[in-house]
Amino acid sequence: MTPPPDPAEFRRVIGRFATGITVVTTVADGVDHAMTMNAFTSVSLDPLLVLFCVEKKARFHKVVLEQETWAVSILGEDSEAASSWFATRGRPWDSQMEGWATRRGELTGAPILAEAIGALECRTHAAHDAGDHTVVIGEVLSVDAPADRAPLLYYQGAYRWLRDD
Ligand SMILES: Cc1cc2nc3c(=O)[nH]c(=O)nc-3n(C[C@H](O)[C@H](O)[C@H](O)COP(=O)(O)O)c2cc1C
Repeated sequence: MTPPPDPAEFRRVIGRFATGITVVTTVADGVDHAMTMNAFTSVSLDPLLVLFCVEKKARFHKVVLEQETWAVSILGEDSEAASSWFATRGRPWDSQMEGWATRRGELTGAPILAEAIGALECRTHAAHDAGDHTVVIGEVLSVDAPADRAPLLYYQGAYRWLRDD
């Protein structure tokens, strides 16, 4: 039998798939939580569904699966600091959103980053076990495009920008 591909090689190849970057947020017992996710995609138009894939060992995993609703902030080209902070392993858990300008999603109460170029509020539709991650599918409750700036991108393990260099 052919052995499975080497994980490092898998990462190298999958890194050639460029993505945008989001910060997924939720509120648990009055405390805001957030995590950077680029494993995010739209899924269905009827009904409106999106998904993100969250690593089981991340603290956000348990919290978001315990909530019914959450929000997605799509990051613009100036949001490298937000992406890096909400991806920092071991960041202070209960105060991680202090100092970040946010507004409350009207339907979910989840915080949405003021700097987001796009925002969605979602209700969990399904959660599927997927190896060391869980695929969380959300029904889209609201959409908003608060700013018309270019997106922040992730490609080959690094931040990239839509620029004609
Ligand atoms: C650009 C970028 C995108 C990321 N996307 C994901 C993702 O889609 N799913 C995921 O599980 N982790 C993703 N991560 C890593 C998590 O954000 C990070 O492991 C997590 O915030 C650590 O939280 P912890 O301190 O609770 O372990 C990404 C990191 C970066 C820098």
